Amino acid sequence: SAVPVIAIDGPSASGKGTVAQRVAKALGYHYLDSGAIYRIAALAALRRGISWQDEAALAKLAQELDICFLDDEIYLDGEIITEAVRTEEISRGASEVAVHPALRRALLNLQQSFRKAPGLVADGRDMATVVFPDAQTKIFLTASAEVRAERRYKQLIEKGIHANLAEILQDLQTRDARDSQRAVAPLQKSESARLLETSDLSIDQAVEAILDYSRADA
Ligand code: C5P
Repeated sequence: SAVPVIAIDGPSASGKGTVAQRVAKALGYHYLDSGAIYRIAALAALRRGISWQDEAALAKLAQELDICFLDDEIYLDGEIITEAVRTEEISRGASEVAVHPALRRALLNLQQSFRKAPGLVADGRDMATVVFPDAQTKIFLTASAEVRAERRYKQLIEKGIHANLAEILQDLQTRDARDSQRAVAPLQKSESARLLETSDLSIDQAVEAILDYSRADA
């Protein structure tokens, strides 16, 4: 039978990355951060002088990417870029390159190659709708824009990075709009996905809820 997949989709800063990693660890499953793949594409393009608007060049670039995820680090062409893909500029770039259908197609096999025994937890925007439509468990994880902005703000302040709550909220709303309104693979709850609203949940509670769902779906 097919290797089980738990697909977790949701908007920016919903906490799905943290929650997905914890679920993967609890089950001993592999983990795919699909957003990181779009971030890497944006960074690689920037470095090679390819415009985030140049769909054909981006699709070609995607075929040539030498990416490796190892021990919590991300490598591009052998260089650690874990921090470099987390900047605000690359967050914007990722959501700009992600609108191009040819690039999304070019990144499909790479994402699907993460599906290996004993199982995979994959987080992103279109895990349940496009990349793993046959996922055993599908979760749409959200929180209000205000709660997400506050979480992101606290993260930055804790890291000693200057941050402005109003700007963060504005930025999140711009990215949400671009991700939800694009023609191809928009951020959207799959009909068969369970809605998990985390505004009033702790990380532990969200992880427990998903583990319960995955047991129910097994
Ligand atoms: O999840 P993260 O914020 O790292 O994703 C960065 C951007 O990549 C998102 O804003 C979205 O535009 C894009 N993305 C996507 N499909 C995915 C994951 C991310 O289009 N499966």
